[in-house]
Amino acid sequence: MPEHMTAAIDDGFDQNARDAVYRAMFTRRDVRSHFLPTAIDDDVLARLLLAAHHAPSVGFMQPWNFIVIRDIERRERVRDLFLAAREQELPAIEAEKQALYRKLKLEGICESALNICITCDRQRSKGSPLGRWHNPEMDLYSTVCAVQNFWLAARAEGVGVGWVSIIEAEALKRLLAIPDHVTPIAYLCVGRVSEFASKPDLETHGWGRRLPLPELIMSETFSGEGETQLKSTVARLNTVSAAPDTIRPADQGVAPAVPQREPPKEASALSLSSLNFDDASVNRASQAGSGTWPAMVLK
Ligand SMILES: Cc1cc2nc3c(=O)[nH]c(=O)nc-3n(C[C@H](O)[C@H](O)[C@H](O)COP(=O)(O)O)c2cc1C
Repeated sequence: MPEHMTAAIDDGFDQNARDAVYRAMFTRRDVRSHFLPTAIDDDVLARLLLAAHHAPSVGFMQPWNFIVIRDIERRERVRDLFLAAREQELPAIEAEKQALYRKLKLEGICESALNICITCDRQRSKGSPLGRWHNPEMDLYSTVCAVQNFWLAARAEGVGVGWVSIIEAEALKRLLAIPDHVTPIAYLCVGRVSEFASKPDLETHGWGRRLPLPELIMSETFSGEGETQLKSTVARLNTVSAAPDTIRPADQGVAPAVPQREPPKEASALSLSSLNFDDASVNRASQAGSGTWPAMVLK
């Protein structure tokens, strides 16, 4: 790990570094389309895997493995599993949403450069279940942390990631020769993309909206009222305005592997410490509940 990434800093990251971290979080997308037929360098993939491997894990168990799947025939078989699972899931969808469900693109298994299956070895801490005696499922959650690290690092590198969960797990295990004691956690489509959408595909297609964050904050107990000040601060940050529909790789300031230009002016407005919103955007924000970088507006 480069020295500048591990040097001790007393009071958090400097502003640019903080902005970059939030930027990765707010512009990360689940990508199913817009994959380019471009290979991913092993150097880049190695960094993503290293980021995943530095995720927190219960008892430092590190229960993950990363199966890299490049073979197109194997991927076609995975896509067949997806198609079968989608038909099985369809009847569980509300009748009025079924037509929309059919139209949604919910995987990019064959179009992406490669697939990665991140698994959880449930026996890796055999005999010493630190932190898992009461809650054995903590190893699964740890593996999800690794998935999220991978996803955020990928966004910073300009690499798209799409999580495909509409697959029957036992069938996937057979196809990938995953042993009984290992659980597949995430099947990911990974590749360079022509663009990152500014909001979730499911929001664009009217499937769902981001919930208003203030309504999800509770005080002291579940459903406990209070934290008014915190909620209004959150509502002010959680602002939304005329974000572009897409952020193309060329708009990124972080990823080194794609052509870059300076981020749009609003981008630097992400400095959370300096946010100062006008009332209209705050009102829109509390109604919409959405927050998409670089949509934040400085007065
Ligand atoms: C555990 C998990 C499983 C998911 N499974 C699928 C899936 O099977 N197909 C799909 O298109 N998206 C899947 N997604 C992506 C979500 O639809 C997406 O995260 C959500 O709509 C918000 O969009 P965003 O990730 O672009 O912010 C999954 C996400 C998670 C966290």
